[in-house]
Amino acid sequence: MEDLSPRPGDLEPIETASRDEISGLQLERLKWTLTHAYENSPFYRKRFDEKGVHPDDLKTLSDLAKFPFTVKTDLRDTYPFGMFAVPREKIARIHASSGTTGKPTVVGYTAKDIDTWAGLTARSIRASGGRAGDILHVAYGYGLFTGGLGAHYGAEKLGCTVVPISGGMTERQVTLIQDFKPRVIMVTPSYMLSILDEFRRQGIDPRESSLAVGIFGAEPWTNAMRREIEEAFDMHAVDIYGLSEVMGPGVANECVETKDGLHIWEDHFYPEIINPETGEPVADGEMGELVFTTLTKEGLPIIRYRTRDLTRLLPGTARSMRRMEKITGRSDDMIILRGVNVFPTQIEEQILKCSGLAPHFQIELVRADRMDAMVVHCEATESSAGAEARAASAKELAHHIKSVVGVSTKITVHNPGGAPRSDGKAKRVVDNRPKA
Ligand code: DLL
Repeated sequence: MEDLSPRPGDLEPIETASRDEISGLQLERLKWTLTHAYENSPFYRKRFDEKGVHPDDLKTLSDLAKFPFTVKTDLRDTYPFGMFAVPREKIARIHASSGTTGKPTVVGYTAKDIDTWAGLTARSIRASGGRAGDILHVAYGYGLFTGGLGAHYGAEKLGCTVVPISGGMTERQVTLIQDFKPRVIMVTPSYMLSILDEFRRQGIDPRESSLAVGIFGAEPWTNAMRREIEEAFDMHAVDIYGLSEVMGPGVANECVETKDGLHIWEDHFYPEIINPETGEPVADGEMGELVFTTLTKEGLPIIRYRTRDLTRLLPGTARSMRRMEKITGRSDDMIILRGVNVFPTQIEEQILKCSGLAPHFQIELVRADRMDAMVVHCEATESSAGAEARAASAKELAHHIKSVVGVSTKITVHNPGGAPRSDGKAKRVVDNRPKA
């Protein structure tokens, strides 16, 4: 694979600024954000007043802990536009995330917010090894989901030639990759696997494709999956993180030269890690729930948003800004099976250890004899599709899961192509237990 380390002059000055410079900027911007929210959003004014805090109470960055959290239901309760801090006419774009239940959460951006977002996604693409002049294939969904348009604006800002194909129509994805020869692809890692299958189905060697960089996010994925994709396509696979409530893709991104967790673009987002039970901030290096406060957003400033994503903060390496470890799961994705906490990423890691299994999977929760049980649906590779090989793979996977994760599972190894496929965010867990 190509060495894609940044060249002199590639980075914005803030990416290599001193910690003091970054903290100083954060404090200044945080004061602005709290004041803007308090003065222009009745929602935040009420929240701050109820807690007895005022923007003037923020003297240092750690004072932020005095301010109230914002959660997803706050956006639902103020549906659709109740949290905006500018008059509706100043909102240039709306996005929304469907969530799993209830009303979608709606977010709004001013023209300046869109420009900031494009700049940060451009920075993310550059950190991943993309350059001005590259052809960049966007297979994240376009529409209310932030993935497609977020990637698109960032790629244009960087100076790429953008192919806005969106998700779905996998056969055509492969045709256009073959015909247009993009150097960079932006897509969910699970959909990249579907594209990989389609390359093989068409008899095309994916390692011969033009792709040199993949920027994968919108769902948890493991380093084992990174190795799988990098090996299959002979390309760099880099992690991009974001969420609609905070902005969209481009809140944090890995640097291709280190691939050691995601640098948070701390000049625009202030991260905290809290203990999800008590809400107390924990020290850098400790695991907990990621909380974000936006530092420059006008349309929808968000104060201490509880992401439900679990990770820890680490010092900067390739950039001065702090890193977050690759996300291992969300507190609401966690399966508690007979007292043991299980995340779908742990299952993914074990599947990737079994040479007879393809990387597609879904977890089904069932109840048998009043006991909860987990069925892992996965599929055989073409060369291990016989009954005996499948039985051996099932046994091997059950053994890995039992010894590493600590739970007994039932494994169903489907025929090649038999496990559910994704063309966007994968649905990793299906709960078929009877409702109480
Ligand atoms: O998924 C934004 C995005 C689009 C990010 C494209 C990256 C690429 P939402 O639909 O609001 O926004 O979902 C946000 O997705 O809280 C995480 O749980 C999860 N997520 C996003 N990126 C990652 C990642 C977009 N790199 C939620 N690793 C977040 C793990 C991720 N989980």
